[in-house]
Amino acid sequence: MSIPDVLAVGGARPLRGRLRLPGDKSISHRALIFAALASGTSRITNLATGADVRATARVLAQLGVPLGSEGDAVVVQGTGVDGWREPDGVLDCENSGTTMRVLSGVLAGRSFLTVLTGDGSLRSRPMGRVVEPLRMMGARVDGRDDATHAPLVIRGGPLQGLRYELPVASAQVKTAVLLAGLQADGETETVSPAPSRDHTERMLGALGAPIVVDGLSIRVTRGAPHAFDIDVPGDPSSAAFFAVAAAITAGSDVVIESVSCNPTRVGFVDVLRRMGADIELDPTGEVWGEPFGDLRVRSSELRATTIAGAEIPNVIDEIPALAVAAAFADGVTEIRDAAELVVKESNRIGTLREELAKLGAGVEARPDGLVVRGGTSKGGVFAAHGDHRIAMAMAVAANAVAADSTVEGWSAVSSSYPEFGRDLALLTGVSEA
Ligand code: S3P
Repeated sequence: MSIPDVLAVGGARPLRGRLRLPGDKSISHRALIFAALASGTSRITNLATGADVRATARVLAQLGVPLGSEGDAVVVQGTGVDGWREPDGVLDCENSGTTMRVLSGVLAGRSFLTVLTGDGSLRSRPMGRVVEPLRMMGARVDGRDDATHAPLVIRGGPLQGLRYELPVASAQVKTAVLLAGLQADGETETVSPAPSRDHTERMLGALGAPIVVDGLSIRVTRGAPHAFDIDVPGDPSSAAFFAVAAAITAGSDVVIESVSCNPTRVGFVDVLRRMGADIELDPTGEVWGEPFGDLRVRSSELRATTIAGAEIPNVIDEIPALAVAAAFADGVTEIRDAAELVVKESNRIGTLREELAKLGAGVEARPDGLVVRGGTSKGGVFAAHGDHRIAMAMAVAANAVAADSTVEGWSAVSSSYPEFGRDLALLTGVSEA
């Protein structure tokens, strides 16, 4: 779909009605990759629609994995990882850190050469965190700045199992090491310093791969998942923007249907509840280890909170949405222990400080987070900074104030949720035309 480069929004319009969201981005990447590791046909419906997941699909196709469609399903004819072939071109992961980091783990075990690159944002993000353990397992990995930045050049081959203590709680790094471990001799173990999203271990376990989870330790041996069909639950990280939009816009009452309620993803529900939000999320079903349910949010007065410590990895992608909630809340909200925000699609500490200040909130940037004094009422000309989540955060903030605003660089939303503008317009009763 074509996305305007500027979104016009505003008018304190309540959100009302029901919506089913495109599939979760993290589960969608994994569904494609695990289907490509399996032998046999997998069918994926409600796959995420954003450019990040399309990048994973395109890279897999370049690696010789047959992908097609049947009705509204994406069909992957898995030939097992031994069927992957050396691509004859560079693998462009565009804006997607998950594509680059997670696929590096698989490519480390393949006896061929790959070159992975991405857009300017991705080429500035840290890659040493995956390169280091993959080198320790025996892969030859090179890249810019001693392989701490893409482009990365991977010449994979036989791997040895490794016990790896992750320096940061990262689901992408954990996944890369585990996917290398599925091709390695002996056992591979990751030990995380704190919980991070656990889709890989849930899905691989449910799909019959040799994986054992014991608290923060995960062990795998050589093996593969089996082929599967999945209807991907809606993306909770996208739902978080509608949850905040509904919470801060008087008169709102929305239901987001069949959204993932994986506990490592819905920390934002607890944070919003602590802030006084009227929010409910109850699991109604499960698919390949992944629970889902309906999320209902009604508007209410919000109060400040503190977001810190072990809660951070479970809300890291939702900080832009939660910072907007803080800007509309009564009191001073502190976000701490979140230095990872600096190396996301933009430096989110800097970009949130700049954009929330335009709303009239008092914002202070700290090395590991933000301090936000609520009391927002101004519209303005907001900027996306090339970051899909900053774009959506500012759209929901702008929607809640009476004045008219614009979000410039709006097309950044295409990374995860190209339809966001249309869906916000649907829920607020405004036609996008
Ligand atoms: C993701 C993990 C998270 C998250 C990212 C997606 C994943 O990053 O921020 O948007 O799908 O594994 P970490 O690797 O830092 O946990």
